[in-house]
Amino acid sequence: MYPLIDLTDRRILVAGASSGIDRQTAVTLSRLGAKIILVARREDKLQEVLGELENDGHSCYCADLSRLEAIGDLFKRVASEQGRLDGMVYTAGIRKNIPLSMFSPEKVNDVFTINYFAFFECVRQACKRGRYQEEMRIVGISSIAAFVGNKAQEVYAGSKAAMNASMRCIAHEVAEKGICLNTVAPGMIGTEMYEDYLADYGGEDGEANQNLKRRQYLGIGKTEDVVNAIAFLISPAARFITGVTLPVDGGMTAS
Ligand SMILES: NC(=O)c1ccc[n+]([C@@H]2O[C@H](COP(=O)([O-])OP(=O)(O)OC[C@H]3O[C@@H](n4cnc5c(N)ncnc54)[C@H](OP(=O)(O)O)[C@@H]3O)[C@@H](O)[C@H]2O)c1
Repeated sequence: MYPLIDLTDRRILVAGASSGIDRQTAVTLSRLGAKIILVARREDKLQEVLGELENDGHSCYCADLSRLEAIGDLFKRVASEQGRLDGMVYTAGIRKNIPLSMFSPEKVNDVFTINYFAFFECVRQACKRGRYQEEMRIVGISSIAAFVGNKAQEVYAGSKAAMNASMRCIAHEVAEKGICLNTVAPGMIGTEMYEDYLADYGGEDGEANQNLKRRQYLGIGKTEDVVNAIAFLISPAARFITGVTLPVDGGMTAS
């Protein structure tokens, strides 16, 4: 059999790795042979994820990525303790509903700091000389919210759209180093984020959820749907793909 996705001994940093899609990303990439470097704030959760990873050679770093000024030191430490990266998946993010009437620059800044600025800074640090292997791949998790309007999601949607737009520009800049950079844009996936959505928008039988299911006509996604797309994009099999946002959305953007 010919394995299309083979990550044997590839060193991949997963930024935001303690729950949901992020946690499953780390586990699946380890099953495909990667050596995972876990990063998130909650040490107890990181230790749990570490215990779930397959094979050996994994490590974890407790860090708050919203402290942008500390990201440089984190990547410096990772480079000296773990060596050069073959890949980075940036999954850290928060979804906050902020309707127009509640808008304030401080609230926008909170969401943008982790969803956008920290992504930017992690990419910048990973792409510094001596920190990456030839043909490193980077995948960021954006959201379908960047393309489809939903009430009160203006700030979250803006942060994810900014991520996609900057990604396309950075992909040009880092191509000369042999680095590929892409984002995936999940539709609604059955994680805690979906539970929060139901709580905010009238529950399972509410109009919003019924509308959602009409537009996302393959139903509510599973974590592994997103993780499989990430695994492909972070692998050598995706060597000719850069600067794109891949929707993983059960048909939402096509409807
Ligand atoms: N679930 C969905 O339906 C859906 C749809 C579209 C897009 N997405 C995107 O997919 C990504 C993952 O979503 P999810 O549902 O898996 O969310 P989640 O379960 O809430 O996970 C968020 C992750 O980000 C980490 N994180 C948050 N703030 C951080 C910080 N300041 N520093 C370091 N790590 C931080 C969290 O770890 P700690 O709390 O331990 O730090 C956690 O591992 C997000 O970017 C989200 O926007 C999700």
